[in-house]
Amino acid sequence: MTASLATVAYIGATILFILSLGGLSNPETARRGNVFGIVGMTLAVLATVLGPRVTPAGYAWIIGALVVGGSIGLFAAKKVQMTQMPELVALMHSLVGLAACLVGFASYVDTSTVFPTEAEKAIHEIEVYIGILIGAVTFSGSVIAFGKLSGKIGGKPMLLPGRHWINLLGLLIVIWFGRVFLHAETVQAGMLALLVMTVIALLFGVHMVMAIGGADMPVVVSMLNSYSGWAAAATGFMLSNDLLIVVGALVGSSGAILSYIMCRAMNRNFISVIAGGFGTGGGAPAPAAGGAAQPAGEVTPISAVETAELLREAKSVVIVPGYGMAVAQAQHVVCEITKKLREKGVTVRFGIHPVAGRMPGHMNVLLAEAKVPYDIVLEMDEINEDFPDTDVSMVIGANDIVNPAAQEDPTSPIAGMPVLEVWKARTSVVMKRSMASGYAGVDNPLFYKDNNRMLFGDAKKMLDEVLAALNA
Ligand code: TAP
Repeated sequence: MTASLATVAYIGATILFILSLGGLSNPETARRGNVFGIVGMTLAVLATVLGPRVTPAGYAWIIGALVVGGSIGLFAAKKVQMTQMPELVALMHSLVGLAACLVGFASYVDTSTVFPTEAEKAIHEIEVYIGILIGAVTFSGSVIAFGKLSGKIGGKPMLLPGRHWINLLGLLIVIWFGRVFLHAETVQAGMLALLVMTVIALLFGVHMVMAIGGADMPVVVSMLNSYSGWAAAATGFMLSNDLLIVVGALVGSSGAILSYIMCRAMNRNFISVIAGGFGTGGGAPAPAAGGAAQPAGEVTPISAVETAELLREAKSVVIVPGYGMAVAQAQHVVCEITKKLREKGVTVRFGIHPVAGRMPGHMNVLLAEAKVPYDIVLEMDEINEDFPDTDVSMVIGANDIVNPAAQEDPTSPIAGMPVLEVWKARTSVVMKRSMASGYAGVDNPLFYKDNNRMLFGDAKKMLDEVLAALNA
């Protein structure tokens, strides 16, 4: 393939990636967006492999790497459960960071490139230094995020004394060694500076994510998504590959916009998220996520049959799904119940919190998979004012996103976070297995409200019983 044909293919792939991102912004067009992304990526890989920069001697390596990488990817995609998706995404971000580091080191030690001027050599070295820096932070930060999302590392923030000073010291050392690197007389001296910076960047990534509290993890996931984009763009600069620069910048900037949206959804300032501590620090002490909360009153249990009775008599129902619906894989029976109620003339709508579940759009994906009509799935801002006119709000495996303490208790670790006001409905029914807390590890006063009922059990099992009672 000639250089100009490869460039045309790259432009085509770039357009397809932009169309893909546009499509992914809405559940109705997301499938089409994915197809654009797949076609764009296939075009990009073919144009790169068949392009002028790959010699036939390199094909064996490329095919070998494709077979190994493709098999691992296929195996992971088949094996991973829907609830493990956020962890898988965090792991993938870490691989982008690792790739940026490896490409950085390889392009530094590669002596085959001759730079016509000193200035061009310096620019290349700056690209290498910054590329490895972003890559290392992305790599270690994503590995810790993987640990936190999979529960292998606790959600409690690790707040070292003087942590901001530690970060500042790290930054100063990185700048100092950047200067040493640029002025290094030999490859060995430059390599030493690169290695010191890499170790500091790796430690910084660990420290940054370890300091972030459970409730802020959504922002961290999208922030690391953004970092992985910038790491890919840095790799593009190091390899002088325009497509990688553009695609990296697209991912980096869309991830940054998503982080901003997440911060707004949680009523948080981006800088204070990075500074860490939200979700467990500050106010009342919070137990570990999923731990048994301190009993703070009496709860009123309800049976599946009684729940069906409540739903049958209601005129309007709002369903609020959360992480537990994903764990129980209850979305299909939720859809069946919705159909049944709508046939009986009940108005059924869904209220989706921006950080429900464990990844952006988690609930929308599950409901779309179960074929719940899009027009009855509403955002938190669209549904919140309707709760006072709602007969039954049905909370399915959600906890933090319906916690009134966020509004009522200024000492709560999640104070100020916008929540779905399900307790304003005539009756709220919370479906979960126990009194355990949610991801942020905070007790939920909703459970003890007079108009609240607790339907204890696995969401899928309970909803199957509710459906059976509705059908009876
Ligand atoms: P959570 O607050 O985590 O609550 C989920 C509840 O589901 C738990 O209290 C659990 O109680 C229940 N549950 C678990 N398995 C169940 C099952 N099989 N059947 C019935 N219930 C089950 O979830 P949420 O309300 O969706 O809020 C999301 C939280 O995750 C927020 O704190 C958010 O900040 C955080 N987070 C979000 C993201 C993104 S991007 N969305 C990423 C990382 C973290 P039992 O154990 O008693 O059943």
